[in-house]
Amino acid sequence: MTEVFGTEFSSPVLLAAGTCGFGESVIDVMSPSEIGGLVTKSVTVEPRWGNPAPRVAEFDGGMLNSVGLANPGLEAVRDGKLPWMRRNLEGLPVFVSVAGTTVGEYAAVVSGLDGEDGFVGFELNLSCPNDSHLEGRPFCLDPGALRQVLDTMRPLTERPLLVKLAPNDPDIAATAVVVAEHGADGITAINTVPGFLTGRGGGNRVGAGTGGTSGPALLPVGLAAVREVAGAVEVPVVGVGGILTGRDARAYLRAGASLVQVGTGSFADPRCAARVARDLVVRGAVPLDRRATPDEAAQ
Ligand SMILES: Cc1cc2nc3c(=O)[nH]c(=O)nc-3n(C[C@H](O)[C@H](O)[C@H](O)COP(=O)(O)O)c2cc1C
Repeated sequence: MTEVFGTEFSSPVLLAAGTCGFGESVIDVMSPSEIGGLVTKSVTVEPRWGNPAPRVAEFDGGMLNSVGLANPGLEAVRDGKLPWMRRNLEGLPVFVSVAGTTVGEYAAVVSGLDGEDGFVGFELNLSCPNDSHLEGRPFCLDPGALRQVLDTMRPLTERPLLVKLAPNDPDIAATAVVVAEHGADGITAINTVPGFLTGRGGGNRVGAGTGGTSGPALLPVGLAAVREVAGAVEVPVVGVGGILTGRDARAYLRAGASLVQVGTGSFADPRCAARVARDLVVRGAVPLDRRATPDEAAQ
């Protein structure tokens, strides 16, 4: 058992936002007890259909997605998805991921769900390359907007508030400090890297043109981000990006992560997170209260 954010996790391995829906696919391939928890698809106030097809394209290092935050919206999550998760996920710790284009939209989702049971906390997706605030950039790349969203969100809930940061942040450590100073309980690093792929004929491989890159190519990017963030703030860090094996997860824990998330790995092997969790038990994960020195993390 691992205690983080005041919650007991049976494993430090969670499923990443947007890669497991609301857990429906989980129960087809594993028992919830085989993983530590999950983060839902990002929820917006209104339902979103997402971007035009095709929404995903594979390449040697992983995949590019332009899903565009397709989700059923706040009401359907409150009335349908949360009750389903309460009935079927056997008390598995769940974080609800929240997205929006204005501070008010984030606030509406957080206050609209906070009174419900069946989840532990919120992960604010402030870093989606397929989305942005109304001025154009993701919130986390605009310190003013980031402060505003956190100052508005913090009084709305006593649950843990995680903030998910972007890999294409020129100073992710400084951003993490702002996030921690403005009341976040934890930081998730990283979201997808903005990307673009063309096919043989030169046409775009995803419908929206650009998308987010994920999968094995992100492993060193995510590790570097976690190491920087963990060195800059005291709040727990959740590491995500390119994890396919127990070895990858251990590298994140050594770099300073308290928990990790598996995303694209689940598309290649739906049991990937359970396998990674099992591997950490068999080989022994780094104790969670210990952070690596920079030299150890670099190894
Ligand atoms: C198809 C797809 C959909 C995603 N949707 C979301 C989302 O709704 N919210 C979010 O915060 N991150 C989303 N992500 C990003 C993942 O949670 C994760 O941060 C990223 O993919 C890096 O991890 P990975 O290399 O293990 O996939 C999505 C990723 C993929 C591949």
